[in-house]
Amino acid sequence: MFSLTGKSAVITGGGSGIGRAIAKLFAKQGAFVHIIELNEEAALSVTKEIQADGGLATAHGCDITNQQKVLDTFATIDKVDILVNNAGIAHIGKADTTTEADFMKLFEVNVKGTYNSLYATIPLMKKNGGGAILNMASIAALVGITDRFAYSMSKGAVFAMTLSVARDYIGDKIRCNSISPARVHTPFVDGFIAKTYPGQEEVMFDKLSKSQPIGRMGQPEEIASLALYLCSDESGFVTGCDYPIDGGFVKLNN
Ligand SMILES: NC(=O)c1ccc[n+]([C@@H]2O[C@H](COP(=O)([O-])OP(=O)(O)OC[C@H]3O[C@@H](n4cnc5c(N)ncnc54)[C@H](O)[C@@H]3O)[C@@H](O)[C@H]2O)c1
Repeated sequence: MFSLTGKSAVITGGGSGIGRAIAKLFAKQGAFVHIIELNEEAALSVTKEIQADGGLATAHGCDITNQQKVLDTFATIDKVDILVNNAGIAHIGKADTTTEADFMKLFEVNVKGTYNSLYATIPLMKKNGGGAILNMASIAALVGITDRFAYSMSKGAVFAMTLSVARDYIGDKIRCNSISPARVHTPFVDGFIAKTYPGQEEVMFDKLSKSQPIGRMGQPEEIASLALYLCSDESGFVTGCDYPIDGGFVKLNN
């Protein structure tokens, strides 16, 4: 079960955190993994880890906000069976404390970047007779989270794009789903804690861990396991769905 042998999988932001865990698991399950990354060095280091374990992977340095660069990158990939739209950035702020520049930056990476990869991938999948797309949303798309105005805006858009793509290409045998994680312990989380709460890193880490009723943050590998199911043939009947994977955050925080 869950074999990806013979499949080609593109993972954006696969150089770190959740994307890295997905890239490593998909390669272990037999996929040829293409990592699309702003941080080419990080992507190369993950491809080296995969190759050292006997897997197949290539690193592509690319900023997903640049449509031409995304198209040029996909032109070097012969087929795409799986797309994981994972690259994303964080931001802290409310509507009246978010600058226009920050708002647009979140939109560019999290929304336009996702659209750019969809724009490049869907024609290739249609030509190939289908495929599986997985978008990384967030619990911020589902519930009101304090101080996450621009981030929630961007993940709400990812959630809506998932439904739109699932509907439009169902006849082309393209499935599209999303995962909405609560806090997962990655450099993304460490980075915003260090930036936003300097000197209080340990206290904030503990507080953020306890905001999941299960009492801890998720691990990237736990997200990768669900990603594998949603991108494998075993989930062939699943499309247009969002899966919160959140230690009870959405349903049990009462
Ligand atoms: N970690 C969490 O708690 C959490 C929770 C919910 C959702 N998410 C989402 O999961 C995804 C991955 O998060 P993570 O925690 O692994 O983050 P991370 O920061 O560890 O990794 C994100 C990767 O995306 C890459 N990236 C950023 N901008 C890019 C661009 N313009 N072009 C190409 N690559 C770019 C970065 O270089 C980085 O390697 C994000 O979309 C994030 O919003 C994370």
